[in-house]
Amino acid sequence: EQINKGKYEHYMQKEIHEQPESLTTTMRGRLIRGGSSNRKSVLLGGLKDHLKTIRRSRRIVFIGCGTSYNAALAARPILEELSGIPVTMEIASDLLDRQAPVYRDDTIIFVSQSGETADTLNALEYALGNGALCVGITNTVGSAIARNTHCGVHINAGSEIGVASTKAYTSQIVVMAMVALAIGADTISSKPRREAIIKSLLHLPSKVKEVLKLDEEMKDLAKSLISEQSLLMFGRGYNYATALEGALKVKEVALMHSEGILAGEMKHGPLALVDENLPIVVIATRDQCFSKQQSVIQQLKARKGRLIVMCTEGDAAAVCGPSCRVIQVPLVVDCLQPVVNIVPLQLLAYHLTVLRGYNVDQPRNLAKSVTTE
Ligand code: G6P
Repeated sequence: EQINKGKYEHYMQKEIHEQPESLTTTMRGRLIRGGSSNRKSVLLGGLKDHLKTIRRSRRIVFIGCGTSYNAALAARPILEELSGIPVTMEIASDLLDRQAPVYRDDTIIFVSQSGETADTLNALEYALGNGALCVGITNTVGSAIARNTHCGVHINAGSEIGVASTKAYTSQIVVMAMVALAIGADTISSKPRREAIIKSLLHLPSKVKEVLKLDEEMKDLAKSLISEQSLLMFGRGYNYATALEGALKVKEVALMHSEGILAGEMKHGPLALVDENLPIVVIATRDQCFSKQQSVIQQLKARKGRLIVMCTEGDAAAVCGPSCRVIQVPLVVDCLQPVVNIVPLQLLAYHLTVLRGYNVDQPRNLAKSVTTE
């Protein structure tokens, strides 16, 4: 076991630090040079024969549980943008509880690290029964979801041992961004946008390497939060998922109450919780939601909120001034920013867990793969 962890103390720590390599492996052989312009484009072997059908579908539905659901949520905006098809989100158990309508002209994308989660598998059986095209995105070759879907993509992140998913999350987002690029590949008007995303994908591992340098800073932040009861995380747009996933990491391993909140909903309840004691992470990196997040920060500051602001490098003074703590991250293309932004929150959750003396790799009551309903 020690050998597998290499120089790291825990699998979660190892898997967080492995992300520059796991992301490289996820993209290997899938961004290829081609066409008359000789520019790179996406080739996903497991999907190419089904792209026509997917492009004709009435809607695309993402189904998953836990971190896999959050990864799908992070990829939803870019899939909507590049495909022009409505994309809806379903937590597997909820789809089944409602016996929600699923149609023959739906494309359903099942996202699961293990490929064996019972609720996701049951939802797959249900969707197959309704005649939908079923696509699997898993990290496990030969898993039930990989076997039983019509087509799919393996994320190739390497085995993940820590119960809290980290490197699988970032690889899932990258694969779903590549799926969006492949579905949208025929649209001439979005070509410059697709090329910008591909360019950013190629630089992503080095940007993640850069953001991992925040390790000590996140340990320091964790020290300041060690005895807190609760931690809120506010995000929106591409980074709503980052808020949900950051909060999920903190609650599942550090055993601290944490809630990811859509910043646009702040005034409809969460604002009542704000005082000078409750720590709040606000994700305010540069994208089309930036000015809205600046206004959220002002409103939280007006209520003396205890803020930790995640912003783009160089933006610290612009976003919050001296009164709040900042986490500065490198800028990448907007739809891939969630891959960079989650890393400091993974590190924060990891250090909080170690400092609070809890089991990092085997949190109480949780399992890596939930194979019962
Ligand atoms: C469990 C794990 C989570 C994971 C979820 C979905 O709850 O503890 O880390 O996100 O299952 O698992 P899957 O293998 O379907 O992605």
